[in-house]
Amino acid sequence: MRRPFIAGNWKMNLNRASAVALAEGVAKAAESVQGVDLAVCPPSCYLDAVGRAISGSKVLLGAQNMYHEPAGAFTGELSAAMLRDLGCTYVILGHSERRHILGETDAAINKKVHAALSAELIPIVCVGELLSEREAGQTLAVIRRQFEGSLAGLSAEQMATVVLAYEPVWAIGTGKVATPQQAEEVHLALRKLIEQRYNGSIAGSVRLQYGGSVKPDNAAELLHQPDIDGALVGGASLRADQFLGIVAGAV
Ligand code: 13P
Repeated sequence: MRRPFIAGNWKMNLNRASAVALAEGVAKAAESVQGVDLAVCPPSCYLDAVGRAISGSKVLLGAQNMYHEPAGAFTGELSAAMLRDLGCTYVILGHSERRHILGETDAAINKKVHAALSAELIPIVCVGELLSEREAGQTLAVIRRQFEGSLAGLSAEQMATVVLAYEPVWAIGTGKVATPQQAEEVHLALRKLIEQRYNGSIAGSVRLQYGGSVKPDNAAELLHQPDIDGALVGGASLRADQFLGIVAGAV
């Protein structure tokens, strides 16, 4: 049985005080939540402060990115070990904003996935098609290419620990949510790709999140699809009541 997993991707928002206040609000509201894993992913500069604010709560810490090298002359970058040192359990890798605005390739993401796993960080690996790709009927081909490229060379044990997030690019920050059927179709396709490469047991255990304009009023229907195991939430994760409203849809 896969345990639902809801993570908030705060992106490049908030300041130190508002990030801590939000973290405290989420941690407090999470006290009554049962049976759902929760994480918040603040900007890197607030990981330490947010980590302290959620310490001892049910909410775990995630980062939004990292670099694949363990240390050295890589100005501006953070290593997996540094994120572990800050108390991170998770790291989002290959988010569409990093793919499309910052030019990250599947090959670069794949190096990061291996480095994260070596440091015992759980990667949340994002895949998703552009609107033009969906309209051209290429959605499943894009998902397959990103799956194969970003997750190349993982052992079955490693694959079992990874979280995958399907985030159609046209649904991110646009208010245009994928229908539960559109999302489920891609989640099922992802599970089949895992089964083809590994086996049914690994495919049945990997958690697949949906991301893209998830809100309290559309969460339950998405989260009750058979192959949708959680959500990666952007805008609505910046308010504790909305984030917890989404969490309520998972139970
Ligand atoms: P929104 O929920 O703001 O659409 O963002 C989704 C997302 O990109 C989460 O990683």
